[in-house]
Amino acid sequence: MSKPFLSIEELTQVYPDGKGGELTVFEKASFGVEKGEFVVILGHSGCGKSTIMNILAGLAEPTSGVVKMDGYEVSGPSLDRGVVFQNYSLLPWLSTLKNVTFGVAARHPEWSKAQVVEHSTKFLAMVGLEGDVIHRKPSQLSGGMRQRVSIARAFANHPQLLLLDEPFGALDALTRGTIQDELLKIWGGTEQTVFMITHDIDEAILLADRILLMTNGPFARVAESVEITIPRPRTRTTIVDHPNYYAIRNHLVHFLGERSKELAGQKGDEVNKPVPVRIDKTVSVSESEPETPRPLRAVNS
Ligand SMILES: Nc1ncnc2c1ncn2[C@@H]1O[C@H](COP(=O)(O)OP(=O)(O)OP(=O)(O)O)[C@@H](O)[C@H]1O
Ligand SMILES: [Mg+2]
Repeated sequence: MSKPFLSIEELTQVYPDGKGGELTVFEKASFGVEKGEFVVILGHSGCGKSTIMNILAGLAEPTSGVVKMDGYEVSGPSLDRGVVFQNYSLLPWLSTLKNVTFGVAARHPEWSKAQVVEHSTKFLAMVGLEGDVIHRKPSQLSGGMRQRVSIARAFANHPQLLLLDEPFGALDALTRGTIQDELLKIWGGTEQTVFMITHDIDEAILLADRILLMTNGPFARVAESVEITIPRPRTRTTIVDHPNYYAIRNHLVHFLGERSKELAGQKGDEVNKPVPVRIDKTVSVSESEPETPRPLRAVNS
């Protein structure tokens, strides 16, 4: 079988525990992400999600193991991997607009200044930031606004891989919904691959092709890969009526509520690969798997 677009191979992260000992966050975690896939990772606080994302971004080195993108080992950050950090990480000395133009200009050195500004302004408007506000410094923005700048900055660069660490955490429900829709539109219209962390189960079901479930740490494991068997386009209001919605949701809630603890801390020598889980109430047990795979993407319109 050919290798996936993004290949995480036997990733282990050990940190000093602050008491002279060691903390093994996860050990030999291995999984793949296909090109164009939207993968969401769910797990309790501290299990190692941001650590995995920082390694995928090339911003941190694992204790052992490798990450390969398109067959090449990831080392150091790249414009091909766009990140929205849990804590926004904007450049405080630059205006909102310049925080976005900075990367766009680096990505498109052949563009005129006006083109760079026009492109960046369009992406800021997409996340609801227009007018005078784009000339303010990050310190003059609210937390939710800063998060939106960070989202616009990542999207505007059209990276091959979009890494999103709880990107909508600081947003009110209305803005969150709008930006989720924008994200689906952008993703649906491009070849981008998305890897996203969230704590919101409903958001995960709405957005993902697949949800990776992590057990609690230390020695956290990426235990399951749950396929979201709800066709696209999806909307918040229509997915709840799909026969698979509550079955998938209950499975996720049960994992996070109980099994993430029961399975926690199981140290082992084997490579840790997630077990594929497919829940589909629309096929009877006697029916075989559908022959044609469902389309990977479709734009929400
Ligand atoms: N630089 C570091 N040095 C030592 N320990 C660290 C470091 N970074 C993270 N850790 C520890 O590694 C574990 C995983 O942290 P990580 O930030 O990846 O968790 P997370 O799953 O993203 O949690 P959350 O959902 O709260 O964001 C935690 O126990 C954390 O204390
Ligand atoms: Mg985190």
